[in-house]
Amino acid sequence: MARRRSRARERELTTLLARGTDDHYLDPLLYDFEYGDQTADVEWYCALVDARVPDRVELGGSGTVLELGAGSGRVTIPLARGGHRIIALDRMEPMLEHLALKVRRLEQADYPIEGEIEALVADMTAIPLADDSVSLVVAPFNCLMHLYTWQELLACFCEVARVLEPGGTFACDVLMPDLEWLQWDPNERHAVTPFEHPRTGRKMIYSTNHEYDHDTQVCHIRIYYDSAKGGRLRPRTTPDHVVHLAHRQIFPEELRMLVGVAGLKLESHTGDFLNLSLNEDIEAQALIARKPVRE
Ligand SMILES: C[S@@+](CC[C@H](N)C(=O)[O-])C[C@H]1O[C@@H](n2cnc3c(N)ncnc32)[C@H](O)[C@@H]1O
Repeated sequence: MARRRSRARERELTTLLARGTDDHYLDPLLYDFEYGDQTADVEWYCALVDARVPDRVELGGSGTVLELGAGSGRVTIPLARGGHRIIALDRMEPMLEHLALKVRRLEQADYPIEGEIEALVADMTAIPLADDSVSLVVAPFNCLMHLYTWQELLACFCEVARVLEPGGTFACDVLMPDLEWLQWDPNERHAVTPFEHPRTGRKMIYSTNHEYDHDTQVCHIRIYYDSAKGGRLRPRTTPDHVVHLAHRQIFPEELRMLVGVAGLKLESHTGDFLNLSLNEDIEAQALIARKPVRE
């Protein structure tokens, strides 16, 4: 018979999940430095929103786009540049504050966005918006992987179905679980990369490792930031700073089941924002669904 987890292990996992939800989003400048040059997903979301929400703000349109896990606006700002009204929902205030700062800087540089952005501090499992009130919902760049139980995931999908207007679109992307990568040695350091911290200017070394919990389907990733003082280019045994990132692995059939149980209709489910079929070579699952129109 399978052994039950000890209380101590349960407590440790609870702490890891809490840190794995917050840690990575406490330093938005570093976040932007690490992910700012990703463009394939941004282009995919912008093309989808342009095609499905034609009524732009400057034309007096009322079509509103809700972005779940908007963070520091990597996708939000390009969406708003297309002239759309975006509600940027996130539970982490530092990320949304950084988004607001970036919008102010664009205005000061005389390069304002054409649409509108409204920041909303909230949890995506309890969306504080009225039924049928938005035209399109997007959940970019793995934000759904921060919902760790099936109950949290289902609550979010049901909320999406509730706030979408009939005929409205939902689009999201999550990583394709990489079964080989998940089993890597949790004690080795990978992706070792020297870099200069964007805020402090300090020379540092980035590295990661991870541990997959088969029971909960959560991968606990540790991101190490070591000082590269003295030209040292190897991670230290005792790191200067460790950031936890917990990612719930969501398998394709599970994602499609959530769509169906929430009452949405699957439209497409493909790989890497290139319409690729879902196989072991792709990195991201990109999904589009619709809320059925009432008869
Ligand atoms: C990987 S980041 C994505 C940020 C941004 N969309 C991007 O593409 O760069 C995930 C975001 O989801 C947010 N998040 C995680 N769990 C959340 C929840 N339950 N409700 C709302 N936001 C959440 C995090 O704070 C973080 O900003």
